[in-house]
Amino acid sequence: MRVPARSFFLSTFLLSYATAVQLDLVGLKREPGLRSLYRRDDSGVFGNGSLALQNFGDLLYSCNVTLGGKDFPVIIDTGSVDLWVLGDVPETNNLSLPLTLPFGKGAAEGFINTVQMEFNGFTIPDQAYMNAIAVQDIAFTGIIGLGPSSASPIRAMLNDSSGDPALDRIFRQNMSTPNTLTFLLSRNATLEGPLVDQFFSQLTIGTVVPGFEAIQDSPKLPALLDQFGPSTQHWTTLLDPNGIIGPDGQQISTTTSIPNPTDGTPDQLHVVLDSGFSVPQLPAYVADAIYGRIPGAEFIEDGSTLHPELAGFVNFWRIPCEYEVNVSFVFAGQEYPVSPLDLNADTQLPDINAKRICIAFFQQIADNIAGNPEFGALDMILGMGFLRNTYSLFNFGDFVDGSPDNVADPYIQLLSTVDKAKMHREFVVARLGGKDTTGSQPALLPSIQKPAVTPQTSGGSATSGNSGLDTGVGSVAASFNAVCRTSRRGSVNRRLKC
Ligand SMILES: *[C@@H]1O[C@H](CO)[C@@H](O)[C@H](O)[C@H]1NC(C)=O
Ligand SMILES: *[C@@H]1O[C@H](CO)[C@@H](O)[C@H](O)[C@H]1NC(C)=O
Ligand SMILES: *[C@@H]1O[C@H](CO)[C@@H](O)[C@H](O)[C@H]1NC(C)=O
Ligand SMILES: *[C@@H]1O[C@H](CO)[C@@H](O)[C@H](O)[C@H]1NC(C)=O
Ligand SMILES: *[C@@H]1O[C@H](CO)[C@@H](O)[C@H](O)[C@H]1NC(C)=O
Ligand SMILES: *[C@@H]1O[C@H](CO)[C@@H](O)[C@H](O)[C@H]1NC(C)=O
Ligand SMILES: *[C@@H]1O[C@H](CO)[C@@H](O)[C@H](O)[C@H]1NC(C)=O
Repeated sequence: MRVPARSFFLSTFLLSYATAVQLDLVGLKREPGLRSLYRRDDSGVFGNGSLALQNFGDLLYSCNVTLGGKDFPVIIDTGSVDLWVLGDVPETNNLSLPLTLPFGKGAAEGFINTVQMEFNGFTIPDQAYMNAIAVQDIAFTGIIGLGPSSASPIRAMLNDSSGDPALDRIFRQNMSTPNTLTFLLSRNATLEGPLVDQFFSQLTIGTVVPGFEAIQDSPKLPALLDQFGPSTQHWTTLLDPNGIIGPDGQQISTTTSIPNPTDGTPDQLHVVLDSGFSVPQLPAYVADAIYGRIPGAEFIEDGSTLHPELAGFVNFWRIPCEYEVNVSFVFAGQEYPVSPLDLNADTQLPDINAKRICIAFFQQIADNIAGNPEFGALDMILGMGFLRNTYSLFNFGDFVDGSPDNVADPYIQLLSTVDKAKMHREFVVARLGGKDTTGSQPALLPSIQKPAVTPQTSGGSATSGNSGLDTGVGSVAASFNAVCRTSRRGSVNRRLKC
């Protein structure tokens, strides 16, 4: 029996927690005097391999796809594979094959269609996608999956290359196009600003963003073949042994939760890189090691006890807004620092004492995800909170459908876009009113101050059972896109849960 494909997706209810969700800049800040050679068209295409992205409150990034001549905004999601949009698509060819895509919270259902697609200057005839007819509890109207195609439910349902996702089609139609996808995610300056050296968000295919060519010299991180099979394949790679540097400057000891891992050593975590997931998901003991020693840190089991808008956030640390937390992740010997503004998120919401609520943006993964073969071989998910600190390149190699195996191994490259001194200054400006008092911030406590929660296990494994997925509680950790396929005769409406 085929394990249902699982992919990841941010839960869009997160949008409600940014006080105002607005569109981010597209090319707002230009170096004075630097003339741009390319003008973007209406859909955001520059004509040089690059496509503009919109940043929604630092919580999701979207671009346009043009279907039958009409532009549709879609979230860019390396954690899923297929394209779906809600709305009327001109000149679409309805294959009348029902498909349901349920998410951790919410679901999209519709029918597989084909239509001419324009994406970043490429034209694809008869692109297969799901035309959604109903979407529940998802505050966005489309997603473009950018993950490896072996996990595509549409490909599986059509059972031939006509069901391939857009990137595979692009790579196959012109063998000279390098099989690469890159993206650069901006930080929204007005949320935390002013920021230094801001760039705008863009996605490229087959080319790299000027000024970031150094990514080609970054170590090639292997894109692991999922040991549990093709249907749970993601963009997964290995962190270095004990490859997280905590706020005290020391490495955090890590142990994979994957049974009998076929890749890496037991002290190497398997990391999924997911542009569709806002809040990075870490093993609970890692989240505790990062945040649990901060003086004044408080472990919150249920966010609604802090503020109604935090309902759905479970098992996270609340920390003082002015506490600077420095953490880096280490891949292939290279350190990737994360801005303290990404580690300590300002919800801009007051608690009952009118005190502003700041929370750990790196949170514990649900127990039922890590170590569960149905979700693939993974220990953690690094979403936008991490990816905003890097320029990211995905080389699809023989992940492309129809490629002979073992010819070109797929890989990932990351280039740090963070300058430590600048990110420190940005934090001081945003949280400390410009006065650098971090030197005298209270020292980390000698041990983790975590109250006994239910049920407690000792020895560093996950403490509280996050049952978000099972109960349908909209927890961030539960925001999975569990993809199921319906049979041709199956009633879509009855198949929302799988
Ligand atoms: C950033 O976010 C703020 C608040 O949500 C919003 O007002 C602003 O328009 C956004 N965009 C930019 C470019 O800062
Ligand atoms: C494409 O052109 C735009 C506008 O000049 C520029 O900002 C962007 O970096 C370019 N991207 C690539 C991949 O050349
Ligand atoms: C997407 O297309 C719409 C309509 O053509 C346009 O207004 C919008 O600016 C585009 N978005 C981006 C990110 O370019
Ligand atoms: C596609 O076909 C199905 C089944 O025939 C139908 O129920 C659905 O309404 C069609 N979709 C659109 C957008 O017309
Ligand atoms: C899918 O196609 C392959 C060959 O292309 C065939 O062997 C297989 O039986 C097909 N599977 C289904 C479910 O139709
Ligand atoms: C194929 O890609 C190469 C390199 O990107 C480009 O020069 C060429 O024009 C493309 N050919 C077609 C037929 O699009
Ligand atoms: C965080 O890192 C920055 C940059 O290296 C440094 O200036 C700052 O002192 C560090 N803060 C703490 C609390 O360690």
